[in-house]
Amino acid sequence: MTIRRDDFPGDFVWGTATAAYQIEGAALEDGRAPSIWDTFSHTPGKTRAGDTGDVACDHYRRYREDVALMRDLGVNAYRFSVAWPRVLPQGRGAVNDAGLDFYDRLADALLEAGITPWATLYHWDLPQALEDAGGWPERDTAHALAEYAAVVGQRLGDRVKHWITLNEPWCSAYLGYGNGVHAPGRQDFALSLQAAHHLLLGHGLAAEALRAAVPGARVGVTLNLTPTHPATPDPRDLEAARRYDGFFNRWYLDPLFGFGYPRDVWELYGAMVPRVEPGDLEAVAAPLDFLGVNYYSRSVVRHGGQGPLFVEHVRPEGEYTYMNWEVYPDGIREIVARVAREYRPPAVYITENGACYPDGVDDDGEIHDPRRTAYYQSHLSKCAQAVREGVPLKGYFAWSLLDNFEWAEGYDKRFGLFYVNFATQERRLKQSGRWLKGFLEGGAGAG
Ligand code: FCB
Repeated sequence: MTIRRDDFPGDFVWGTATAAYQIEGAALEDGRAPSIWDTFSHTPGKTRAGDTGDVACDHYRRYREDVALMRDLGVNAYRFSVAWPRVLPQGRGAVNDAGLDFYDRLADALLEAGITPWATLYHWDLPQALEDAGGWPERDTAHALAEYAAVVGQRLGDRVKHWITLNEPWCSAYLGYGNGVHAPGRQDFALSLQAAHHLLLGHGLAAEALRAAVPGARVGVTLNLTPTHPATPDPRDLEAARRYDGFFNRWYLDPLFGFGYPRDVWELYGAMVPRVEPGDLEAVAAPLDFLGVNYYSRSVVRHGGQGPLFVEHVRPEGEYTYMNWEVYPDGIREIVARVAREYRPPAVYITENGACYPDGVDDDGEIHDPRRTAYYQSHLSKCAQAVREGVPLKGYFAWSLLDNFEWAEGYDKRFGLFYVNFATQERRLKQSGRWLKGFLEGGAGAG
């Protein structure tokens, strides 16, 4: 099996993705105030080895060098996120121009390099001041997101046309407020459902604000989706898979595409369902120009465990990454085909896909990461198949440009196409990155 750039349409978008808190560093510079991730990572025991994003990849200072790396790689798009606490340190109200200036310079540098900027508004770094006022379980946070969207849209909208309101609201809601593995680390399932509703509402309001501020805006939202398979054909396992799909995928897809919350899951949650006000579901279902899909792996489940889901994860035989995520390439095809069939988005972009392995620099100065190369090849082959099968898949963003702060996992988990030496900030292209560069130049890649 060989995969070539020619297997995709000529106007296919090829990018890499990052997120502000994972790469920028400069946590206290130029008026930036703390986000929930600053607070969380500085709380003992919350991240591996106590790692924080204080310095990260120092991208705030090295962005020009990083844009040059992208140009050298040959991508034509870059998905980054804007740090809300740089722009509105208190979450709303006073705008910090120095913070906005950074994204202004970044957008200019990208355009000069011939790279189209794709901005994500919210990649998990809620200003701590808003969390102190209740965070996502508080309805007002949705309005704050829309105000922030207007500020950023007005400043960058003459140059940035591609906008993603939220990155992975399931993670913000469930990992943040449900099991507490991510910031702000609260643990209350019902609260996480209320947070999810306000994230979705915030998306709808922000989409509207962006369209008002940015002429010709293309607005979408990014979900992390996982094809969910039953461990056995036992009807109880089939039901478990349906519930997990409802919890993880449909709870977000259905309201975004105008179907409201899925009835089966709503009933399952009983008294824990969120408070939804009249008009909310219409706002959530604001028209989308595209759906962003982040895909890493599938889920295999069976009946068991605790309520409300009564689902247990099963670990099928196979290959796993260093995140302990199964390598399951067909899942990327399956999930985009399914959303295209069931929800009919005008366009789909893979806004993240990639793999983590314990990389190191070998004696020859190279980072030999053949498993990451194989991961990219196999997943891109499945993307090409989806395009052939008629899915309106229009682009692919590799996660990630650089090794970075992998949230609760800290710096131990490397996803970059470029290896980062965090002591010196030296970046070095991994062999997988070299493969991708060859692929983008039009060469063939064995898969
Ligand atoms: C996704 C996140 C991204 C990164 C990858 C590995 O869930 O959006 O920031 O951490 O996982």
